[in-house]
Amino acid sequence: MNEVEQHYTHGQLEQCILRALERAGKDSENLSLDDLAPIDEFHIRGRAATRELAQAISLDRGMDVLDIGCGLGGPSRHLAAEYGCRFVGLDLTEEYCRVAEALTARLGLQGLVSFRRGDALKLPYEHSSFDVVWTQHASMNIGDKVQLYGEMYRTLKPGGHLAIYDILAGSGAELYFPVPWAREPSISFLPTADELHGLLRDTGFDIISWQDTTVLGLSWFATMAERIRREGRLALGYHILLGGDFPVMARNQMRNLDEGRIVLMQVVARRPAQ
Ligand SMILES: C[S@@+](CC[C@H](N)C(=O)[O-])C[C@H]1O[C@@H](n2cnc3c(N)ncnc32)[C@H](O)[C@@H]1O
Repeated sequence: MNEVEQHYTHGQLEQCILRALERAGKDSENLSLDDLAPIDEFHIRGRAATRELAQAISLDRGMDVLDIGCGLGGPSRHLAAEYGCRFVGLDLTEEYCRVAEALTARLGLQGLVSFRRGDALKLPYEHSSFDVVWTQHASMNIGDKVQLYGEMYRTLKPGGHLAIYDILAGSGAELYFPVPWAREPSISFLPTADELHGLLRDTGFDIISWQDTTVLGLSWFATMAERIRREGRLALGYHILLGGDFPVMARNQMRNLDEGRIVLMQVVARRPAQ
């Protein structure tokens, strides 16, 4: 198991999620997408950010979508149920793939959503396989960006869209660690917005939309912090995935964002049709 997989591996994740759901008054034998959203949309602004990105690429019934670094598969399940497209989720963390499959079966979405363990740097798919390649908050752990965007381009059909929602480097000042994607700088690789733009163009993508969503991220953090002050630790949240040091990770992430050390970016790019 490499350092990134170790960072995300919990050991008892499925049982912990089911126990937390029960404590929150949910019926684990009859779960809904909404019940899981506070845990399985594992990125800043959760489901709202997923919806906005989906709208930006006009997802449609019958499309084949690859979700790279899919985590527990929340965005894949949510969008497959909403739009009727087929999702394949690929993730490096074996435990996440197993839990993603189990949650998908509980929701009866196995017909539209499947998962596979794999590395974004070596996608186990043929050229031109997908209408959409989708990725949220996964590239921060991946150092070889040329290979990463090259693989995304290779597996997209000509004319297909790449949908990105990621954390990027901001001012150039060092980050406060730990953060939710890395306890140490050794597994954190953030390009600046200019670097990402250049990488995508050099890979061959046309940039369709480019939106800095940092302000929305900051106000989401402020709302969450206020809710936690009022209600105490929430029954369902990312602390279930990341364990005891999650509060310090969340504080650092908010500070990094607030001080401009990181920024949030939503990007849509297209592989030219030829
Ligand atoms: C913060 S989680 C985001 C999960 C999901 N995209 C979401 O938004 O709910 C980051 C995920 O990226 C995955 N990841 C990191 N490096 C990867 C790689 N080289 N290949 C595939 N997945 C990777 C991790 O295992 C983890 O599940």
